[in-house]
Amino acid sequence: MAQNKIAVIRGDGIGGEVIGQGIRVINALEKRHNFRLKYTELPWGSDWYFNTGAMMPHDAIDQLSNYDAIYLGAVGHPDLQDHLTLNGLLLPIRRAFDQYVCLRPSILYPGITSPLNGYKSGDIDLVVIRENTEGEYANAGGFQYLDFSTELAVQTAIFTRHGCERVIKYAFDLAVSRGKQNRVTSITKSNAQGYGMVVWDRAFERIAAEYPNIETESLLIDAACMEFIRSPNSFDVVVGSNLFGDILSDIGGMITGSIGLSPSANIDPERRFPSMFEPVHGSAPDIAGKGISNPIATILSGAMMLKHLGQEQASNEIEAAVLEVLSRKTILTQDLGGMATTIEMGDAIIQALN
Ligand SMILES: NC(=O)c1ccc[n+]([C@@H]2O[C@H](COP(=O)([O-])OP(=O)(O)OC[C@H]3O[C@@H](n4cnc5c(N)ncnc54)[C@H](O)[C@@H]3O)[C@@H](O)[C@H]2O)c1
Repeated sequence: MAQNKIAVIRGDGIGGEVIGQGIRVINALEKRHNFRLKYTELPWGSDWYFNTGAMMPHDAIDQLSNYDAIYLGAVGHPDLQDHLTLNGLLLPIRRAFDQYVCLRPSILYPGITSPLNGYKSGDIDLVVIRENTEGEYANAGGFQYLDFSTELAVQTAIFTRHGCERVIKYAFDLAVSRGKQNRVTSITKSNAQGYGMVVWDRAFERIAAEYPNIETESLLIDAACMEFIRSPNSFDVVVGSNLFGDILSDIGGMITGSIGLSPSANIDPERRFPSMFEPVHGSAPDIAGKGISNPIATILSGAMMLKHLGQEQASNEIEAAVLEVLSRKTILTQDLGGMATTIEMGDAIIQALN
């Protein structure tokens, strides 16, 4: 029997409840597919911060390196500045484990109505690949004259040729393996950011030359935001920097019905370190504790984790069960226009699996 060790960080807000449903769904498949995931709960996040002054212990990365994957809910608390939660947990994990590919699919599922007119199930089927270790989220910069009226900040974006090329190459390989529109779109802003984004553009041109059968296009981020609304069906694989990928994947979530449906995987493609699987959404403090969050993004992130761990069949079955529940339209959470609770949605997906 295949066994894997999973570190679970439920984090804050709705993180705990959506992860709970993700684990239930995976548990329902273990016997059938003869595998076992052994979970270790790590109670890190904002409560850990309130007790210790840090989002996670000083040896957190050492601890996490003993696991095959990390399953994460969300971090973020209304009483804590977001840069503390992000820089204290998520970003250090992504960097330490060189999870340089952040994979964020957006698919218009059956039963879901896009806020955009005229699109039916399957019309939108794109993947945003976000560079995940450098760019605008590199932790480089500083303050001067903090709290004086002359206060200033410097925030540096870092673009390395190596960092750009490897994630762009991943995007091209994915376009080949998807076999859909055979197209990769690069997101840039080199008209205004004449250094880092130029390195990005040149990396894109070099890698594109290695894939003559893949159609390419390069869009400025502002134009790309517009095109995601105007013609989302024209996108196949989209590759962007840390910031641009972050923004576009939220748009991708909304045009396919709800951010509560959008999964993500932070991957070290070379498998030297654990990869991390989490929903695109945050801790949603506005609905936390009400039991009404949509667990599907986290359940689908769990499916991505299973695929990464070699359980492709189980992963496909979860996706099929989600599709079946959505297309029936009887059990839908509030973000999708229904009244179902988080647990009822988990129950429905488990029933569909059986
Ligand atoms: N990866 C992460 O952990 C992550 C990502 C984004 C934001 N955050 C943090 O989360 C906190 C809240 O941020 P935000 O409000 O900008 O983004 P958010 O994604 O938490 O919420 C945005 C909106 O979407 C809704 N929503 C999100 N997930 C949902 C779900 N599963 N089901 C139903 N509705 C859902 C929320 O209720 C809210 O109205 C902040 O502290 C932010 O820093 C964390």
